[in-house]
This record gives sequence, structure tokens and C-alpha cells, in this order.
Amino acid sequence: MTQETPPAGKRLRSRAWFDDPANADMTALYLERYMNFGLALEELQSGKPIIGIAQTGSDLSPCNRHHLVLAERIRAGIIEAGGIPFEFPVHPIQETGKRPTAGLDRNLAYIGLVEVLFGYPIDGVVLTTGCDKTTPACLMAAATVNIPAISMSVGPMLNGWHKGERTGSGTIVWKAREMLAAGEIDYPGFIKLVASSAPSTGFCNTMGTATTMNSLAEALGMSLPGSAAIPAPYRDRQESAYRTGLQIVEMVEADRKPSDILTREAFLNAIRVNSAIGGSTNAPIHLIGLARHVGVELSIDDWQEFGRDIPLIVNLQPAGEYLGEDYYRAGGVPAVVSQLMQHGLIHEDALTVNGRTIGDNCRGVQIEDERVILPLDHPMKQAAGFSVLRGNLFDSAVMKLSVISDEFRKRYLSNPDDPNAFEGPVVVFDGPEDYHKRIDDPATGIDDSTILIMRGTGPVGFPGAAEVVNMRPPAELIKAGVHALPCMGDGRQSGTSGSPSILNASPEAAVGGGLALLRTGDRVRIDLNRGEANVLIDDAELDRRRREMESQGGFSYPQSQTPWQEMQRATVGQMAEGAVIEPAVKYQRIAQV
Ligand code: FES
Ligand code: MG
Repeated sequence: MTQETPPAGKRLRSRAWFDDPANADMTALYLERYMNFGLALEELQSGKPIIGIAQTGSDLSPCNRHHLVLAERIRAGIIEAGGIPFEFPVHPIQETGKRPTAGLDRNLAYIGLVEVLFGYPIDGVVLTTGCDKTTPACLMAAATVNIPAISMSVGPMLNGWHKGERTGSGTIVWKAREMLAAGEIDYPGFIKLVASSAPSTGFCNTMGTATTMNSLAEALGMSLPGSAAIPAPYRDRQESAYRTGLQIVEMVEADRKPSDILTREAFLNAIRVNSAIGGSTNAPIHLIGLARHVGVELSIDDWQEFGRDIPLIVNLQPAGEYLGEDYYRAGGVPAVVSQLMQHGLIHEDALTVNGRTIGDNCRGVQIEDERVILPLDHPMKQAAGFSVLRGNLFDSAVMKLSVISDEFRKRYLSNPDDPNAFEGPVVVFDGPEDYHKRIDDPATGIDDSTILIMRGTGPVGFPGAAEVVNMRPPAELIKAGVHALPCMGDGRQSGTSGSPSILNASPEAAVGGGLALLRTGDRVRIDLNRGEANVLIDDAELDRRRREMESQGGFSYPQSQTPWQEMQRATVGQMAEGAVIEPAVKYQRIAQV
């Protein structure tokens, strides 16, 4: 067997396992066991790149399960292009299946995937992404290891329908809960309504965290142009899988790595795309985490500076009306990027997986349906990004401006003297169980002036940070026509929720953030113009409360239930810094050493 020269003059890292004459005895050992499922010696020593398929689909992860099927087409593309596919499992992350929260598993899957990519003979990898945290977990690992990597979205479910109306996954759950609480539907009706939103394989068909993160992966340049939004069951999705397989082999040949693609310019592009699509409030956490693992400066203030004033142009639930199939047919991410480009809002030179710039990929792409993707000149809403708030309760928290409803605006933001500010007394809940127990109890004392506070739900307190800040009002208030109260907290909220909560507060109560000092009955003032949220109590009283809390052993939260919960709590940072495993950040580009 004659050996071919490695492509592009660079020795493939897999050759250290399979073709290293200086280390003959170890090579023999590695070869022997990989040959036992039918691989030939010639294949393993051919100089062909070994391409990992990081498989996030499983029976435990229904959102990503279709990747088990798509992997066949990825393999076909890899083989066609001259690579050897090795498929392996990634720790499952199912947003709706993991207790107490899938928030714990992003970092666990990240840590696991770093070990696999670093420790096995893999020259490049296809990241099979989908459900909320699978996308950032995979991208973060690829960034740390820094071998050629391409992400491939599994795609959203088909549109959900109920009585002729689109029902969007997640979004309908929040609405159905209100209807159940108000007695408008019974339990079987509740289940039927919710099930209608999930008609096929794929991830949430709304602009939840999954569609957001896959759109942003594409906007970052990490997946093929036009691929993020293809619905899971469409034939185009199978074709995209094949093309992804072809592309990763070319990327290995060109030695095109995450560090070449994930530049600060690429992140700023993604921030702007996130505002334009009405993306999830989980996006800042994941993108800041990814930026830290690839060594790019990105702060929560960048979301305010570069994202806040971008208009909303994608009319998808929860900020709008349509769903995943409509988004794809209207042009998906390239149509959105093309609109932003026409207004000079995209760094067009940012490189993407296919070796072209994002400008070259998206220039001139037309909107195919202006009901779903609107021209930037005629957006759904102006200045629809995130407002970053600060004050004596936290150093930063995020509010999604695109989901402020007319009802909410009228009730809270229409004071003619002070149009973007309001204040009210708070009712404080210590975690979701406390909330569920007391929300409908008249003794809790909630009326239409109340601001609901959820605390103890950050990365340390919960742990993993729960998606619980969007709280429905008490049933009696909903029946009286109050559909939303202002909510604030140190947890997260589902991207499928249309609640204009103030969330991701950092630092969280569990590490001594100001929310820990808040008491039911305190008045809080929120000023969106100034970007402030403050409890109207003087510093001396706050100091007194802090000393009292510390003398009682600090803010209390539930004990860890598993080893990982304890390890994550000991090492995780706050959401404003990406909620990453802090000791992991110093390990960068480790495949190059
Ligand atoms: Fe998996 Fe929404 S629950 S994408
Ligand atoms: Mg979620």
C-alpha cells in the first residue's frame, strides 16, 4: 500500500493513531481494534481524513432524533468527498425532558465532546445540532479543540395547526396554561392543543432557542448558507446533510478551523441577526460562552450596543405570527442577512464554512414572502433587540423588546410624563416550586400593580439556571383580563415565551446578587430609557439586610442531587459571562499543541 501525501501539506492528526511508524506498537493496537468492525488497513492508512459525526439524536432527545436518519446522508457525503466517517454519541440534551433543567447539560455535553474530539483520531467533525443547548454545546467544544467543524441543524418541525390556526411549539404551552387557569379549556383540551403544535420530527417550530441558535450558527458562518431553517422532514434537509458531509472533507483539506470563522466580526453579525429574527434571550448566554471558548472578546453590553436598535423583520411566533416552514419558504437566514447587508449592518468579509464570505453567500438573496420576512425598511417593530438593564439589584439583566405586547405597553409604558418607566410593589418567589404553590393563593397578595420576582434560579442557585422567569398572573387576574404582569429574575426563560421579562440577572441571588435582599412589598422601579432597575430602598438598609443574610449563612438554595450538579456549581460562572465552566476557558485551540 503506497501512502498518499496528506492534503494541503498538513499532516492529519489521525495519522498519529493509525500511521505512525515511529510508534509502531501503539499504531498496531489502535488499528487492530478499529479494524474489527470491517475497516480495512488500507482505509485507515490511506491518508483519508477521519470525520467525526457528533450525534446528538437519540430516543431521549426527540428534537434531535431525526439526526439518526440524516447521519446516513452525512456519511454518504463524507465518503463521496474522500473521507472516512466515524459516528459517535454526544451526551443527550433534551430541553423538555431533563430534570431539573437541561441548563445543566450544555456544559456537561461540552466537556464530554471536548474529550472525544481531543482524545480520538478525528480530523474534522460534523456537529449535529438542534434542540436549544445542543447547538452551543457542540460549537463550544469545537471551538476549544479547534479542529475543522461544521454544524448542521436538524431543522424545525412542520407547522402545528389547531382549528385553522398555527400553533407554535412552546408558545402554545404558555397560552394553553393561561386558558386552563382561566377555565377556558379542560385538561384533555389542554393536552390536545399542546400536542397540535408538534406534528412531526424536528425541533420547536417557533423562534425559540433552537431556531435562534441554529440561525445564529449559520450567521456565524458555522453551517452551510440556507441550511438552518430547512424543516426536518423536507427532502432539502436530506440534501443539506449530504452537502454538509461533502463540505467538511473540503474544510479539513483547507484546514479551515473554528478560530478562522468565529471572529469578533462574526459574533457582531450574529447579534444583529438575533435582533432581526426576534431571537431568544438565551442567545447572549450561549454566544458569550462560545466567544470565551474561542478567545474572542464579547460582552453583554455588545448586545445593547450592536443589537438593541436593530428592527424585527421576521414574523415568527412568539414575537409574531408564523412558524418554521414559513420562515424557510420566505428565505431563512440568507434573506435576513441580505436585508441587514443592504443597510451596512453586516461585516461582509466574515469567513464561513464553505470558504466564502458571508457577504458572498448572501448578497442579493431576495425575500420570497414579505408577510414572513419583512424588508428592513418596513419592519414589524423598530429597535427590537435586547435592552441591558442594571442597578442595585444586579450588574446586568436582559429584556427582549420585540415581545412587549400592546397590552403591556399600554399598562406599564404609557405614562405621558415618563413613558418608558414604571414602578410597583414586588412579590418575591424563591424558585419555581414556591411560585407554583402560591401564585393562585389570594393570600399572596398579587394585583395588577405587582411586579413578580423569581430568584434562586441562576446557574448556581437552581443549578443550571431554570427557564422560569416568565410567570403567568394568578388565574383570577387572567379572568379579569390581565394577561401579563412584569416579571424579573435571575433565571432564564424559554425562547418560545412572549413574556417581556427582565431576566438572566447577574450576579444571581445565590452568589450574593441584589435580588437576594429583596422582600415582598418593596417597591421596584424600572426605567427602560435609562436601562435601570432599582429597588427604592437606601443603601444603608440594603447593607443591613446583607449583613443579616450573611449572619444567617447567606442566601439558601436546595442541595445538589447529583455529582454533576455539585461540580457545575463549584465551577460555573454567571450568565453575563456565558455561564461556562470557568476553569475550561484557559484551554484553547488544544488540537494544535
Ligand atoms: Fe427541543 Fe424546543 S424543546 S427545540
Ligand atoms: Mg429553552
